[in-house]
Amino acid sequence: MQHLTVDLSERSYPILIGDGLIRDIGVQVAPLLRRPHTMIVTDSHVADHYLVALGTSLAMESISFSSFVLEPGEGTKSWAGLARLTEWLIGEGVERGDHVIALGGGVIGDLVGFACSIVKRGCNFIQVPTTLLAQVDSSVGGKTAINVPAGKNLIGAFHQPALVVIDPQTLDTLPRRELGAGYAEVVKYGLIDDADFFAWCEANGAALLAGDSEARHKAIAHSVSAKARIVAADERETQDIRALLNLGHSFGHALEAETGYSDRLLHGEAVAAGMVLAHEFSVANGLCPAADAARVRDHLASVDLPHSLSSAGINTGGAELAAHMAHDKKVRGGKLPLILTHGIGRSFVTEDYGLDAVAAFLDS
Ligand code: NAD
Ligand code: GLY
Repeated sequence: MQHLTVDLSERSYPILIGDGLIRDIGVQVAPLLRRPHTMIVTDSHVADHYLVALGTSLAMESISFSSFVLEPGEGTKSWAGLARLTEWLIGEGVERGDHVIALGGGVIGDLVGFACSIVKRGCNFIQVPTTLLAQVDSSVGGKTAINVPAGKNLIGAFHQPALVVIDPQTLDTLPRRELGAGYAEVVKYGLIDDADFFAWCEANGAALLAGDSEARHKAIAHSVSAKARIVAADERETQDIRALLNLGHSFGHALEAETGYSDRLLHGEAVAAGMVLAHEFSVANGLCPAADAARVRDHLASVDLPHSLSSAGINTGGAELAAHMAHDKKVRGGKLPLILTHGIGRSFVTEDYGLDAVAAFLDS
């Protein structure tokens, strides 16, 4: 088992990574609990595979539990989902000192984290991520949210988990398309500030996606330790450090908005195309060598991820896409900070480029 830490003084917490950990989770959770009881929240896909194993492990440590199984999918991260979950937690008699377990992907993690930030003015939660995206990104860092009709993740809070338990073996049951979407976020860490890790992805990405457990473990541990370092340096994204994690997200957000946040384009797929666009926009503005953008595009294409507007299924004009970006929640003082790059592993935040320039680039 590998043990990492998110270093946030009194809110610091461990990240444990190990194959089969889900069957051993009771031992990790028991020392945190004030009373030997917990509540598990999951979705029905994940429940089918892992709820019994998790419950058995808790029972072996004499921890009683109740469980709440939600509908899978982004629609669950909603006012309605939040109301159902918070009312269930209160009905179960949740106490402020309790720890609620979020077992699932980013949807469950974001929803449970937000519910735990507000129920009884805040209780603890434990992330047990079961998608690659959640294992390398969303389970760490304390961003929690629900979606509302005006946009994704617009209602939320920073609320750090007390523990993150990552069992890479859970990826054995994850559909290949979801695995690919999570892999885009792995590649992102290389592109932000770690050219050697991007080169590792070029050499090992295909094996990881084919199920190679050594490659999977290395990618998760490397990504999550990068995320832990970035979150520790800039927990609330106020210093242009955590903002680098949004590489590809502003362009990707426009593509997701254009496809109605539907299964036509998963979040990680939009990020993949968005990262290529961010590199190509940087090339167009004389910031980045064209060869670097080509490497990014070629690698993402080689693992069947969207790497252009057309491969993402988008044929909308630049002005319409840029208009979606204007509604991004990261807009500050009317300007959208973009994450651009001087080359692989050399990303930076800038407000130097207006949406008119972005629109013209997308039409070019
Ligand atoms: P998800 O939670 O919807 O999971 C994807 C699908 O895989 C679902 O159908 C789920 O039931 C299924 N699934 C999960 N684990 C499985 C497993 N091991 N085996 C079989 N099926 C499994 O999607 P996601 O990609 O994990 O998360 C997307 C969400 O994460 C979005 O709402 C996004 O906004 C959010 N997000 C949050 C952060 C953050 O920092 N908080 C970062 C990135 C993304
Ligand atoms: N996923 C972006 C962040 O956690 O900041």
